[in-house]
Amino acid sequence: MLSAPMQQQVNIGLIGGGTVGGGVYKALQANGALMASRLGIKISVTKVVVREIKKSRPVHIPAALLTTDFHALIHDPEIHIIVELIGGTTTARSVVEAALKAGKPVVTANKALISKHGETLFALAKANKTNLYYEASVAGGIPIIKVLRESLIGNRVVRLYGIVNGTCNYILTRMKAEGAEFMDVLADAQRLGYAEAEPSLDVDGHDAAHKTGILASLAHGFWINPQDIYVEGIRHIGKLDIQFATQLGYTIKLLGIVKCLPSLKKSKGPRQAIQVSVYPALLPKDHVMANVSGVYNAVLVRGDIVGDTLYYGRGAGQDATASSVLSDLADAALDLKCSSRDRVPAFVDHEKNGKVLSTGELVTRYYLRLGVSDRPGTLASIATILARLNIGISSVIQPEGHEGATVPLILMIHDASNASMQKALKQIEKLPVVKGAPVLIRVEDFE
Ligand SMILES: NC(=O)c1ccc[n+]([C@@H]2O[C@H](COP(=O)([O-])OP(=O)(O)OC[C@H]3O[C@@H](n4cnc5c(N)ncnc54)[C@H](OP(=O)(O)O)[C@@H]3O)[C@@H](O)[C@H]2O)c1
Repeated sequence: MLSAPMQQQVNIGLIGGGTVGGGVYKALQANGALMASRLGIKISVTKVVVREIKKSRPVHIPAALLTTDFHALIHDPEIHIIVELIGGTTTARSVVEAALKAGKPVVTANKALISKHGETLFALAKANKTNLYYEASVAGGIPIIKVLRESLIGNRVVRLYGIVNGTCNYILTRMKAEGAEFMDVLADAQRLGYAEAEPSLDVDGHDAAHKTGILASLAHGFWINPQDIYVEGIRHIGKLDIQFATQLGYTIKLLGIVKCLPSLKKSKGPRQAIQVSVYPALLPKDHVMANVSGVYNAVLVRGDIVGDTLYYGRGAGQDATASSVLSDLADAALDLKCSSRDRVPAFVDHEKNGKVLSTGELVTRYYLRLGVSDRPGTLASIATILARLNIGISSVIQPEGHEGATVPLILMIHDASNASMQKALKQIEKLPVVKGAPVLIRVEDFE
């Protein structure tokens, strides 16, 4: 609880004064008074920890506030809330652990940290009768954590679909609009600052997996081990796939997917099975998620009571992310004022029987693009392999206008398990009529 003379003010220590830290400082300058009038509590930045005090910063932070000593902030009795905004999982972890052990509420925007160490950190918060707030860790300015933690608390989350990586969405949007190849758009995105020089975290799906795992943990009440998430990025998507998907009535998006599936009967009783995965998928082109463009993010949550709900907004950037940090600061300040430090529980430890479906068990429809020799019997040899594995073909398209020794062949495949499909692909690849690596993309109908 805040000490009596401090009732109307909480002091915060910002650990990190870069893009997001600078954004939080700037937003509090702009809207701090408005927040104080709404909350009845003034939120005041007492210190800002940076690595290099003398560095010039796009957002000016008075020199008197800057320090390099995060320990001093954590142990300063006049600082009530610690805000971790340095990123990474080493120093950031030490900061968060030390603050929680000191009994201080912590706000973080760090998805990598929550994804990797969330289970331990939430337990630490609970043991120290404090709380960990992490709204900004998923989908930037979209208040999706609060939605799952509070607004939809009366629902079982049946489905959750997220476009949660702005870089991938930007690249796929431009590939479609310009008929361009992945590598060309990536290079341009890097030049324009929409993609990192080392793009793997984004384009290989890992960043989306961090966020999808956090949302799945929250939605299903048990901690999802990041290693249990099936992850595929977008490097293998070619302009031909975007073009054929469009002709077939689809748009390709990188989706984080959390599906609640029927309970699995096990010797120790039924276990709740959920699919947690990240992969590019063909979406029906008129679906609202197919029309989320550029760097924007969106999360569709289907609750068993509420039905479909949709959350859309800027998934990253200084101001959008700062907005989510301010939301957490307001909660943390109110919780301190009302002496209810764990009013909103971490909410990731109530389901004791949760299980993530293994990769082989994932069942979806597929788009399969092959390069094949244009000669009779080709389709029959491929269809035979699929039939032997009980995999049904729903349609076959051999687009016109492609001439030469190798032509594209597109097969739309009925629901099949990933294990069966991978087996089939291994055999198909070995056929002498099949040239180059097959491209397999899942189809998501939002059923
Ligand atoms: N940027 C976004 O759009 C966005 C969106 C959502 C979530 N996030 C998350 O927000 C967090 C911060 O990201 P950011 O973009 O603000 O990073 P950033 O611009 O690189 O800023 C990091 C800040 O932390 C300071 N810092 C780094 N290591 C430190 C250390 N060992 N000791 C003291 N200070 C240290 C840096 O000091 P100097 O200023 O002296 O270098 C800088 O002020 C990350 O977890 C990120 O994933 C970012």
